[in-house]
Formats: sequence, structure tokens, C-alpha cells
Amino acid sequence: MDRIRLVGGNELRGEIPISGAKNAALPLMIASLLTDEPLVLQNVPRLADVKQLERILENHGVDIAVHGRRRGEDDGAGQRMTFHAADIVDTTAPYELVSVMRASFWVIGPLLARAHEARVSLPGGCAIGTRPVDLFLYGLKELGAQIEIDEGYVVAKAPKGGLIGAHIVFPKVSVGATHTLLMAATLARGVTVLENVAMEPEITNVAECLVAMGAKISGIGTRILTIEGVERLHGATVDVIPDRIETGTFAMAAAMTGGDVLLRGARAEHLQTALDILARTGVELTQEANGLRVRRNGNGIQPVDVETDPFPGFPTDLQAQFMALMTMSSGVSSIRETIFENRYMHVAELARFGADIRVEGQVATVTGKPTLKGAQVMATDLRASVSLVIAGLAAHGETVVNRIYHLDRGFERLEDKLSRCGAEIERVAG
Ligand code: EPZ
Repeated sequence: MDRIRLVGGNELRGEIPISGAKNAALPLMIASLLTDEPLVLQNVPRLADVKQLERILENHGVDIAVHGRRRGEDDGAGQRMTFHAADIVDTTAPYELVSVMRASFWVIGPLLARAHEARVSLPGGCAIGTRPVDLFLYGLKELGAQIEIDEGYVVAKAPKGGLIGAHIVFPKVSVGATHTLLMAATLARGVTVLENVAMEPEITNVAECLVAMGAKISGIGTRILTIEGVERLHGATVDVIPDRIETGTFAMAAAMTGGDVLLRGARAEHLQTALDILARTGVELTQEANGLRVRRNGNGIQPVDVETDPFPGFPTDLQAQFMALMTMSSGVSSIRETIFENRYMHVAELARFGADIRVEGQVATVTGKPTLKGAQVMATDLRASVSLVIAGLAAHGETVVNRIYHLDRGFERLEDKLSRCGAEIERVAG
């Protein structure tokens, strides 16, 4: 199994190109199931999760092509890919494929909308929490679907003639349920109103893609989406937005090591709350024409309290990285995780660097220390893994991060991007 070996202590200086957002690319790929015409996606990141979803979509009958680089495009440019679901050949998403990536459950929306039936394996729990699918099932039933659970599968059938528009109020904000119901409603008969939806920039990216495909959606970017169903959608060409979690991760890395980094292509408005908090820790952030500049001049890192919340709040996907930063602050900070019940697996690993963190229920109290010491650590989930890498970059001595396949799910060329900015970091095979 590959590992990452790094030696901490170097400041980060230079430019890092920000890749396309994993969490936008995945639902955009799934949206291709809604039409028999090709959907072209630009700036798709090269990630293990994208590859995995390709397998799932191919199983449903989607033809996928990756186009070559255009003239003048550098190696930082994302992939241009075509997804063509001329026919849905199979409406089953099997356990072997769905169990490795939760987002693949979201195919249930487009399959039901277009093929009027779907049999999708329940995704099960995962390392960060139990992650149920009750909100999806509630919403799909409101659109008229009949749903049964059979041998670990959700078996869903649309009424004769297809799904029917409805007024759905989500009792809790869910990114996945919003994507799924939004996609399902585009082809439903009549009007659907979705209340208390997620407003993450990735939802907006998908909603705008659906509009480009001929869907009628209003309220994009707000808590209420209104969708007037249409008979069919057509092809479109859509850009994947830059990854705000990758942006925040590198910003925190630069904050920890000190230095001066331009995050090329980053869009500050996609993570304003996190940037405001970073500024309070003592980092200098400037939006420039081609990206976001992050500078820290070597002064101490100020402790700041944080609570994770749905967008526009502080993202749970940056909680582990922020905790890594706080382990080096000049005081005591508290972090409250409100989205997932078990997203503190990195705490025990950060302690191996000498960090002082106490967890009680949802709250982690972090007492900063002037220095961390490199260690052997184990990656547990995607964002936890990268928090160990950035802690290692700031720690004294050598760090080895084991089990890094989690990182490859969501970070494109991580070692390469960091080493080009002066980090001493390499992947060790085997
Ligand atoms: C998305 O997951 C992201 N994944 C996650 O990113 C992210 O952490 C999460 O949103 C929150 O921002 C993708 O976009 C592919 P949710 P999702 O449904 O949609 C509960 C990463 O590292 N809930 O918004 O699965 C759920 O248990 C990842 O890239 C229900 O109770 O998250 C959680 O507590 C991991 N019932 C809360 O809602 C349901 O039916 C929010 O989850 C659905 C969700």
C-alpha cells in the first residue's frame, strides 16, 4: 500500500492550480443519466472517486469519452469528458459498486425520473457516521414513487407516466438529497417545490447544468428551489467549479507552514466563512485576478472557535484541516462538529504529532503548542488524511502517512502540487 513520506519545516511558496471540485463533478456526471444526448463536462478532476462513478454509470449504459488536452492547456487543466446515456440499459446499481462510494446512491433520482424505475443498493454507513437515506426516500415518495427495501436494495417505481411534482419540505439540510430530488423533479409532471435545500456551490453548479440541459428551475442559490417539470432534457457543455475544499486545505497548509502561495483559479466566495475565520487566525488573504493569495508572515497563529454548518457556514469537509492548524495556535480553541457524529478520527492521529486535543461529544478543545513533531500516522478518511499531511508539513522531522488511498479519492496530484511549492514530500510505493 502506498505511503506519503514528508519532512516538515519548509515554507510553501509559489502557485498551486486548484482542480475541479470532486463534489460537483460527481453529481454532474450523474445528471448525464437524465438525457439521451451527450453531456460534456470540462475541468473534471482526475480522482479515484470519478473513476469509480464512471464504472457505475457505464453499468447503466453511459458511454464515456475523455478528450485530449487542448492546445495551450497546461497539465493543471482538468479533463474534458463526454457522458452519453443514449439508452439506460440497466436500472440496478449493485452493492459492489455503491458500497464503495456513497454518492453513487444519488443515481436513484435520474433513473426514476427517466426510466421510471430503479434498484439501488443502500450505501450503508461509513467511517464518518451512519449517514441514513431517509430524506431521499421521503422526497421520492412525495414525487409519487413506490418504494420498498428488498435485500439491502431500495426498489423504487414511478407511477404510470412518471414522477409527479410535489411540495417537499426537508426536515434537515442534505446535500445528497437536494441533488437527487432536484434531478428527479426536472422530468416530473407539474411543479415541484423543494424547501430547506442545501445551497452549497456544488448544488448551484448542478442546477445551472440542468438549466443548460433545458430544465426550468428558479431559486437557484437559495433555500427554496422551484422546478417546473419538462418532458425531456438535452445535451449541454458545462464547467466543473473549482474545488473549494482543496482551496481551503492549501490555504490552511500555507497558514501552518508560513509562506506565500497563489491558489490559482480559487473562488473566495465559495468559502467565505472559512476564509474569514482563517483571517482571524492571522493569515493574510487577497483575492487576485487569477486566484486567491495566502500569506503568513511567521507571526503566531491565533486561536479561533469554529462550528461546522451547512453552506454558507464553515464546511465540515475543512474541519480536520482547521483542527490541524489550531494544534499550533497560541492558545485554546474549540471546534464543534454539527454535521457528522463521528468525524473526529483524525484526533488520535494528530495526537501522534504531540497535539493536545480533548473531545467531549460534538466538541473538540484544542490547546495549541509552538511545535509539532513528525510521526508515523494512519489516514482514516479523505479529509482526515489531508489534515495529517498538512500537520506533517509544519512538524519538525519526518512524517509517514499510511493508507493514503483515501487521499487519492479526492485530491489530485497532492504531492506534486505541494512539492512544487517547496515542500519535501514524496509518495512511496508498496
Ligand atoms: C456531501 O455528503 C458531501 N459529499 C460530503 O463530502 C460532505 O461532507 C457533506 O455533503 C456535508 O457537506 C459529496 O458531495 C459527494 P449530507 P452527503 O446528506 O450529501 C444526514 C467529502 O469528504 N442525512 O448533506 O452525504 C447525514 O447523516 C465528503 O468530500 C440524514 O439524516 O451529506 C448528515 O448528518 C464526505 N438523512 C447530514 O444529514 C439523509 O437521508 C448531512 O449529510 C441524508 C443525510
